[in-house]
Amino acid sequence: MAGADIWSLLEPSALIDPHPIYREWYGRSPVLWDSDIEAWLVTGYEEALTALRDAERFCQDWRRVGVDTPPSLLSLQTLDPPEHTRVRHLVLEGFKAADLSALEQEVRTSLDGLLAEVQGAGGFDFVTKIAEPLTLHAVTRLLGVPSVDPDWFIPRSHTIVDGMDSSLRPECYEPGVKARAELSELVGEWLDAPLPEGFTAHVVRRANEVGVERDVLHNSLRVVLQAGFQTASRFLSTGLHALLRLPPELRRPVDNDLAVNELVRFAGPVHVESRACVEDTVLGGQQIRVGQIVSMFLGAANRDPRTFDAPDVPRWDRTPNRHLGFGRGPHACLGAQVAVMIARAVLGTLGHRCPTASLVAEPRPRPNVTEHGLFELHVAL
Ligand code: HEM
Repeated sequence: MAGADIWSLLEPSALIDPHPIYREWYGRSPVLWDSDIEAWLVTGYEEALTALRDAERFCQDWRRVGVDTPPSLLSLQTLDPPEHTRVRHLVLEGFKAADLSALEQEVRTSLDGLLAEVQGAGGFDFVTKIAEPLTLHAVTRLLGVPSVDPDWFIPRSHTIVDGMDSSLRPECYEPGVKARAELSELVGEWLDAPLPEGFTAHVVRRANEVGVERDVLHNSLRVVLQAGFQTASRFLSTGLHALLRLPPELRRPVDNDLAVNELVRFAGPVHVESRACVEDTVLGGQQIRVGQIVSMFLGAANRDPRTFDAPDVPRWDRTPNRHLGFGRGPHACLGAQVAVMIARAVLGTLGHRCPTASLVAEPRPRPNVTEHGLFELHVAL
């Protein structure tokens, strides 16, 4: 059987719309072996859901299959239950210590200020003028830490995302490691700083009591900063782009949680989550061997016709909507509520205030298969 041609996902047209490729793989098998990267490509919804939920058979902590993990990587993202559960509960306490309604107000005020700066210009870049600065501001406010210089942070943050695709682009691995270390230094400063009561102050104070090691806490705070900034800012851009490409009769202001979730299903930024198989097992009729990598293509699973009616069309009131855009199981997204709030505030406001917004030029996609994003998105309001 011919290989899956995983490299075709790096073509600019596939970075904008990978679904023709996903459909072809799915047609061959919802769980397909790729001999180039030696991994199973899971495009079926039920199969992806099974693997995401089952940390016994499909691990996130690759030490369980003999892969060395440096201490700088041990965080809530790379541990499995039961160790993971303690860290996750602590981070969840952090989210609860943040004032989300005050944060929503801040996001709306921040949007007003940024819109005022671009108003009147014939067109502007939504990514660098709105999505990125607004999300960075929101995530640092959520964490209750000092503002971060966007010119320092944003390029490093993108370099880390590039590093996540190093199985396809090996040259991105080392720069990703270096950028992650630099972000770690920044986060390290927060651990000893006198911070106001809120997310970070709370988790730093509580970590000892609940038995979370300082290194793991440190790395987990870095994960919240990085995951929160990247996914939420990329979603604003991929989401707005998807909206502006729709025929007028399908467009509407994405101003409530149902609509935002449908946009996450339809155009969410996180396309791949991988696990390692812990014991010989069967998934989607395929024999998976211990140690093999299983890559869940969430974007594909979210359009599985066995699960979603008319999967290639957004239905703004789709109910139920059990999409996997925020993951599922023990590692499901902890920031989903924050992400939905930011998207509702930004895309809802734009939809109401600027109903005739349009694309000025076709955007240039970032070369990321795992987390889709755009270098720029020129729009006219
Ligand atoms: C639209 C925006 C977002 C999307 C699409 C998204 C998607 C995801 C997905 C798919 C996962 C699961 C990863 C896995 O299974 O390994 C995840 C985990 C996570 N997300 Fe999000 N996310 C978003 C926004 C946010 C925000 C705003 C934050 C924080 C402020 C955040 C924090 C996290 C954290 C901490 C985890 C790791 C949870 C764990 O491993 O236990 N996310 N996210």
